[in-house]
Amino acid sequence: MNQKIKKIIQKKNKSKIICLTAYSKNFAEIIDKHADIVLVGDSLGSVLYNYSTTRKVNLSMMIEHAKSARIGVKKSLLVIDLPYNTYKNKLEALKNSKKVMRKTKCDAVKVEGGTRVAQIVSHLVKNKIPVMGHIGITPQTVKGNFRSKGKNENEKKKLLKDAKALEKSGAFGIVLECTYSDISKEITQQIKIPTIGIGASVYCDGQVLVTDDLIGLNETGFRFVNKFGNIKKNIEDAVIKFKKSVKLKKFPSKRNSFN
Ligand code: KIV
Repeated sequence: MNQKIKKIIQKKNKSKIICLTAYSKNFAEIIDKHADIVLVGDSLGSVLYNYSTTRKVNLSMMIEHAKSARIGVKKSLLVIDLPYNTYKNKLEALKNSKKVMRKTKCDAVKVEGGTRVAQIVSHLVKNKIPVMGHIGITPQTVKGNFRSKGKNENEKKKLLKDAKALEKSGAFGIVLECTYSDISKEITQQIKIPTIGIGASVYCDGQVLVTDDLIGLNETGFRFVNKFGNIKKNIEDAVIKFKKSVKLKKFPSKRNSFN
């Protein structure tokens, strides 16, 4: 087993696992110093391209962003989302995962779904592709509104079954997206692999957020996001200073010029 994955699994019940998204080198470089997992998520579709759904993200977009992120990631586990329609069956999933791994040198792929994708996950793992699962709200297949999962008994049972199916298939971890606190806690207690929550309470083994959301670059209004910074303001301040400097002919100075 990949040593980085082994270390991440060993953190379960000991120390929280930190996961953040990065879609490019400069972000990845900063996050790599502090995270266990850097995720090139297909959330890049909405965050960078303003797509209304992650279904519009394709494999080449993921590969190009992952290649850039790869440059910045030195120590963390680099996980790439397999986008919608690229893992419909075992053969396609393996072909596309191999391509992603070969072109980006990432450590693992992430797929959405539970029992529905269990056989596919199993096939990938048997073929030495490490896989991270993702259940709860699964944006690639969401129908209607983005409603939190696991409120009633049926949903709770399904989530637990999905988590156990992914564990049995060999996934090394599972993202729980917007699952109610009590079922997040139960899943976390009942499986041996780590759960990484987003809107899934403090009971998960780790936490993931979209970096652009937490630094205040991307506005979401999602209840599960905290703004830990305001980079948008920092960027704007710098742009205003630059503009003033140019208008006042202070920039470029002699030092910035070739005389
Ligand atoms: O696409 C993504 O960034 C994700 C995380 C939100 C878990 O799947």
